[in-house]
Amino acid sequence: MVTLRIDGLDVRAEEWWTILETARFYGLEIPTFCYREGLSPWGGCRLCIVEIGEGTNSRMVTSCTYPVTEGLIVRTNSKRGIEARKVLVELLLASCPSSKTIQDLASRFGVQKVRFKVEDEPCVYCGLCVRICAEQMGAKAIGFVNRGGDLKITTPFDRKSEECLRCGACMYVCPACQLRCQGTEAPGVVCGSCLCPQPTCLDSYPDLMCYMGAAGDCGTCVTEKPEQAK
Ligand code: SF4
Ligand code: SF4
Ligand code: FES
Repeated sequence: MVTLRIDGLDVRAEEWWTILETARFYGLEIPTFCYREGLSPWGGCRLCIVEIGEGTNSRMVTSCTYPVTEGLIVRTNSKRGIEARKVLVELLLASCPSSKTIQDLASRFGVQKVRFKVEDEPCVYCGLCVRICAEQMGAKAIGFVNRGGDLKITTPFDRKSEECLRCGACMYVCPACQLRCQGTEAPGVVCGSCLCPQPTCLDSYPDLMCYMGAAGDCGTCVTEKPEQAK
């Protein structure tokens, strides 16, 4: 066991725990985006950053990947950390403004405007789909390809995957695919849009859905129109 200090509280943790795991164990909340319990930490979004050390020696680290050490001093909500998280949320919002997950984050952080160019991308590169496919479904059907502006998630050679189980887990965890906000309604109106997420990948992949196969194969979306339903 090691002893460290988080937000002024002396806590004990197993040597192999991360700062995030330790904080959550003691009920201290640190926001996350690309982290999900049960999947390996990725460290990509940086939303979980915390400040470690003191004075001029302090620095920001991602709490989901940083291991605890004896005597470590951690501040989960320093001014510097909060400001950095707001900028990260703004960047996410610029990439995918209609994601309900990101909209909720923006609301939580009080982000009301986006100073960056809004791109409305289909993916924010959180890597959750790749990790759930490999680590929970054991399929390894999808992965990152290319770099920079050409970076994308797809199957090997962009072909229909034999490994894909059509389980829909990748769509389930995706903050960009699931729960796209369809717009606001007058106050008090329940628009219900959040209850009817549409697979946005159909716009980009007319023959493929979420890199998995023919549209609707995975069964996670409703492709049948209401008038066709029995
Ligand atoms: S639907 Fe296919 S690509 Fe998606 S998680 Fe399942 S096996 Fe992987
Ligand atoms: S497709 Fe979705 S889950 Fe996968 S990396 Fe992009 S945003 Fe994340
Ligand atoms: S949640 Fe830690 S880097 Fe994304």
